Amino acid sequence: MPPSKGNTIPEASRLTDLFSLKGKVVVVTGASGPRGMGIEAARGCAEMGADVAITYSSRKEGAEKNVAELEKEYGVKAKCYKCNVGDYPDVEKLVSDVIKDFGKIDAFIANAGATANGGVLDEPKEEWDKVIHTDLNGTAYCAKAVGAHFKQRGKGSFVITASMSGHVANFPQEQTSYNVAKAGCIHMARSLANEWRDFARVNSISPGYIDTGLSDFIDQETQDLWNSMIPLGRNGNAKELKGAYVYFVSDASSYTTGADIVIDGGYTCR
Ligand SMILES: NC(=O)c1ccc[n+]([C@@H]2O[C@H](COP(=O)([O-])OP(=O)(O)OC[C@H]3O[C@@H](n4cnc5c(N)ncnc54)[C@H](OP(=O)(O)O)[C@@H]3O)[C@@H](O)[C@H]2O)c1
Repeated sequence: MPPSKGNTIPEASRLTDLFSLKGKVVVVTGASGPRGMGIEAARGCAEMGADVAITYSSRKEGAEKNVAELEKEYGVKAKCYKCNVGDYPDVEKLVSDVIKDFGKIDAFIANAGATANGGVLDEPKEEWDKVIHTDLNGTAYCAKAVGAHFKQRGKGSFVITASMSGHVANFPQEQTSYNVAKAGCIHMARSLANEWRDFARVNSISPGYIDTGLSDFIDQETQDLWNSMIPLGRNGNAKELKGAYVYFVSDASSYTTGADIVIDGGYTCR
């Protein structure tokens, strides 16, 4: 069977060309923080030449600041959009607005996510619903909305920010809803890789403890315990992940689909 349009060997051979994102349009959800995975993924893509569309949910000012920095630092086109990933019409609107503003979408990084505040017994049912809805359903909504565009174009790359919590249950904090949602995200990437084999690639990234501010509410004693369980002995910095996002977005990963890269300082290898 001849390879489909989205499954061809790239013409380029040099890594500098394979990793180049010049002329590509990349969407990154949840890029409103100053040091989160979203803005670092957007920085990485912009550094390699891509135009970037980023989203926020509540931090409009943060997203606008990030857009200004992306344009100034990397000389690319950047724009931010408000989007609640748990609201399918909102996600569909995001995709159509970006296509209107940028002409197309080459890659979509589904990064937006929320943490759990406690375990199944201590938290109300609504907390379970909220975490599963944002982290799992929201990711699926992004896939559904942009997947139609990828199918129409015959190409695309979808990248999910999952978590090491989708591989192991964190100790000692209780966050079953989050762990379950992220495990679902890893398997969503594998399943979509099969569904979309004729036109797009789908992969996930599983970060460990990354110092983005997301876990600032956790007490110091617990954080010290976490660190003692990480072979590299420290939290990660989000810039230590941007190379992986660029890899999955770029043609350097043209034969990579259904893969998950764990970036956790060795937490899950013990
Ligand atoms: N930090 C870690 O240790 C770690 C480890 C593994 C995985 N992760 C995952 O990495 C991703 C990014 O998190 P981060 O640590 O970089 O923190 P972050 O900077 O706070 O990023 C979370 C982003 O998700 C957005 N968001 C939250 N709920 C949303 C919703 N319903 N609809 C749309 N956007 C929503 C937030 O938007 P607003 O702020 O504008 O509301 C924010 O931009 C998340 O999926 C998280 O689960 C984090």
